[in-house]
Amino acid sequence: MQTNSWVPIFPEAASTFAWQVDYLYYYLIIVSVAFTIPIVAAVFFFGVKYREREKFATPEEMHGSIMLETVWSVIPFVISITIFLGGAIVFYNQFNLPKDGMEVYVVGKQWMWKLQHETGQREINELHVPVGRKVKLTMTTEDVLHDFSIPAFRTKADVVPGRYTYLWFEATKPGKYHLFCAEYCGLNHSGMGGFVYVMEQRDFDNWLSGNVSGQTPVEAGRDLFENKLGCASCHAGGANQRGAKLEGIFNKEIELVGGQTVTADEEYIRNSILNPGGQIVEGFQPIMPTFKGQVTEEQLVSLVAYIKSLSGATGTTPSNSSNSSGNSNSSSNSASNTGTAANSLTPRRADRGASNTQGSNPNAPGAAEPSNRNR
Ligand code: CUA
Repeated sequence: MQTNSWVPIFPEAASTFAWQVDYLYYYLIIVSVAFTIPIVAAVFFFGVKYREREKFATPEEMHGSIMLETVWSVIPFVISITIFLGGAIVFYNQFNLPKDGMEVYVVGKQWMWKLQHETGQREINELHVPVGRKVKLTMTTEDVLHDFSIPAFRTKADVVPGRYTYLWFEATKPGKYHLFCAEYCGLNHSGMGGFVYVMEQRDFDNWLSGNVSGQTPVEAGRDLFENKLGCASCHAGGANQRGAKLEGIFNKEIELVGGQTVTADEEYIRNSILNPGGQIVEGFQPIMPTFKGQVTEEQLVSLVAYIKSLSGATGTTPSNSSNSSGNSNSSSNSASNTGTAANSLTPRRADRGASNTQGSNPNAPGAAEPSNRNR
């Protein structure tokens, strides 16, 4: 459903749920006005009516009115419940993640947004998406708390160190929309923004094929797993491996030493790489070294994407970027929606290492492209 915002100060409305947010907002404004005007009017009216006419007058005795008190209790109750229900419905729609969404990975960093498509293309402070298609963002940050916000889509979500958060939207009309960081994150917070480009599917396909795709997240993850980090020496699968088997585990219940179970979602996989001693799988020894400080958030995203792909659980279109004719969400996606449930683990503070010392504004006019574009 597509609506244009008819209130001049509202940003454009360009996502499927933008109108819901707007209508809820109109409702709140109407309720506020409908209470404020009579209250202010009554203040003046009674101020005049009951002004002091003679010194030490004895006021008339007054008793309660059941009728009046019932009315002024029931009406606000009904109004507050409708506000709650409206908010709950909007929230549910926004944070109930679609299973067939096109995946985009987002890593925030002081002060830029680094994004990667599942076909491998990378962008900085820009996001190109097709119109009329659900897009799911999996987000984290290398340093401090940020917040990914697209006002025209009426959606935003915190991007939190040490965990994954998710956001989805379906754009309803092509155009160029502001992208902001909506959480104060340091000196150049206000410069940490860019644009979302919503394109017709054909234009989007052209855009994809015109961009160097490099490795897809899954391929990059496999490379790290098999070569650069050597995970495969213990986790290659097969008998007598020292490390737990990773095929088919995604979103399954895993039994841990000590009898607990845990769902092997993205958060669990990430934690197991950074803090392997935390949740040991039943039947294995706590011998895995931590990779904390050795892998960047982007590499973690790739590793998680690769391990998910071992369960057939992600959009694993091959890197060849010319194949993107709208079918990259044909992935089996048994990856059921991990949604906010994945956020229940305790976040850890990210390493606030020297990587934050970027001095110049990456968005300054005429600034060269950030040098780490293809990290
Ligand atoms: Cu990042 Cu504000």
